[in-house]
Amino acid sequence: MQDAHSHSAISHSAIWRALQTQAAELKQRELKDLFAEEPQRARDFSLELPHFLLDYSKNHIDQSVFVNLLRLADEAGLEQWRRDFFSGKPINATEGRPVLHPALRGGLEADLEVGGVSVTGAVEAELQRLKELVVLLHNGHLTGCSGKRITDVVNLGVGGSHLGPQTAIEALRAHRKGDVAVHFVSNVDGTQLTDVLAGLDAESTLFIVSSKTFTTSETMTNARSGLKWLQRAAPEVPAETLVQRHFVGVTASPDKAQQFGILPERTYSFWDWVGGRYSLWSSIGLPIAIACGFDNFRALLDGAAEMDRHFREAPFAQNAPVIMALLSVWYCTFMGYPAQAVLPYDQALHMLPAYLQQADMESNGKSTTRAGVEVDYATGPLIWGQTGINGQHAFYQYLHQSPEVVPADFIGSVIPGHDLEGHHEILLANMFAQSQALMNGVDAESVSRELAAKGLSPKEIKRLTPFKVHRGGKPSNTILLKELTPRSLGGLIALYEHKIFVQGVILQIYSFDQWGVELGKGLASKLEPKLAAGDLSAEDGSTTQLIEYYRRINGAVTSTELPEVGVAESAGEQA
Ligand code: F6P
Repeated sequence: MQDAHSHSAISHSAIWRALQTQAAELKQRELKDLFAEEPQRARDFSLELPHFLLDYSKNHIDQSVFVNLLRLADEAGLEQWRRDFFSGKPINATEGRPVLHPALRGGLEADLEVGGVSVTGAVEAELQRLKELVVLLHNGHLTGCSGKRITDVVNLGVGGSHLGPQTAIEALRAHRKGDVAVHFVSNVDGTQLTDVLAGLDAESTLFIVSSKTFTTSETMTNARSGLKWLQRAAPEVPAETLVQRHFVGVTASPDKAQQFGILPERTYSFWDWVGGRYSLWSSIGLPIAIACGFDNFRALLDGAAEMDRHFREAPFAQNAPVIMALLSVWYCTFMGYPAQAVLPYDQALHMLPAYLQQADMESNGKSTTRAGVEVDYATGPLIWGQTGINGQHAFYQYLHQSPEVVPADFIGSVIPGHDLEGHHEILLANMFAQSQALMNGVDAESVSRELAAKGLSPKEIKRLTPFKVHRGGKPSNTILLKELTPRSLGGLIALYEHKIFVQGVILQIYSFDQWGVELGKGLASKLEPKLAAGDLSAEDGSTTQLIEYYRRINGAVTSTELPEVGVAESAGEQA
């Protein structure tokens, strides 16, 4: 076994080579035949936890591959990494920070101190402050400048400061309180802010500026435009007062929120040991607590903490995040399938694929090992998907008959979130049928038989059969929740978070930084004034042409005027 933090390349280990050989062998074996060979397969390759059944039997593995994948986890030093993660070691080494999002939900074994401060104490204190604000809002005691009750909250934030809260609020639609509506604006494309504000009354609107760094250009631009909208509605009120009464800040840089003019008592903090894409459990979850009530937010945290405990304590062979991570590595790195699909059969989970795209791809879409050298293997997968039923009528054709193999996660709930008769059986029957169809496919003989039964001529049967054959052998997991509740949702999201961490450990990459998103941000901030000034110096031919065309069509008139209220934006800060 490698020392947990050693930098020797795992891809040179004996177990790695064994898995490469097995991948080549498994490709010669039909997935459906594995079922015939192993009568206990469904039971052996599934795991029942308090909130869900994880059925991973429709994967292209056998017992010996599974055992070797577990050995790979040992080889990667996962046991030590898991201990270091939960004990607050600075495992986000390129930023020199611990990674402690489990602390936000009571998921640590014991309290920790970071910088001499009790993590649990700091978290609880901030949760209490959030609770007070939520209660004020729901009691109707939070008012705007004119004395009108706040009835609409607009979250201005992007990436981790948007996706988690909106995904959770959509998922918990059955638990939403009706009295305060929560809206989201993440895009700097002014269309989104314009659309959201069009339906709102400035006097009863509160903006939450959600930004870990409080420098993200898109969010700060939206915040300034939000303020201008308030000013247009109440020109007699000084801007400072509007900010004080109509803005809340959620950030790990409270000083910057205060430079913007937000009151300290309306600034809610979190810490640099919380990654942006792991922050929905922190004050960033404020929109969830507002939309669904503080108790439901707490239940979401509790559900995630249960998953933390499971991940921390369960042996790897019965550990859901570890199993799912090993399967992902198996497909992406050993079988050579670069993409994985997330397919919720639950309308309430319609944003989960987008959420997991950031969580997974911003974490593991990397090509430098912890030793600082280029990987010689595939790392994290391309994650995509949408609700299953809509997908069936859009891209499932590709899943079934393209030559590519896209392993999929099917996610559904036994108990529906509505009481309409007949719908849920159709939905779940489709989910079960799709994973079955992807696994088994349909061979030429069966197709011919079916066409013959329909009375087609032998010539027609011969002509049509090749088009109707489904190769099969497309693997999937099924996560069948008992019911989508705040607790089970917390557990589901934490399951994926830990899965992503385990993948990173095995692939020997750092999962908690995101240097890859900085380059484009930096260039955009340099190009922005050039667009306005028509400065075409030092650009490549294509960019020059794009700027020229933009200026020609646009009449070369753009405004770069910056409003006075605000903080300096940076292109390089890490969230
Ligand atoms: O997209 C890059 C990123 O840094 C994400 O990691 C982060 O969630 C997002 O930008 C928003 O950052 P912030 O919360 O600092 O505005």
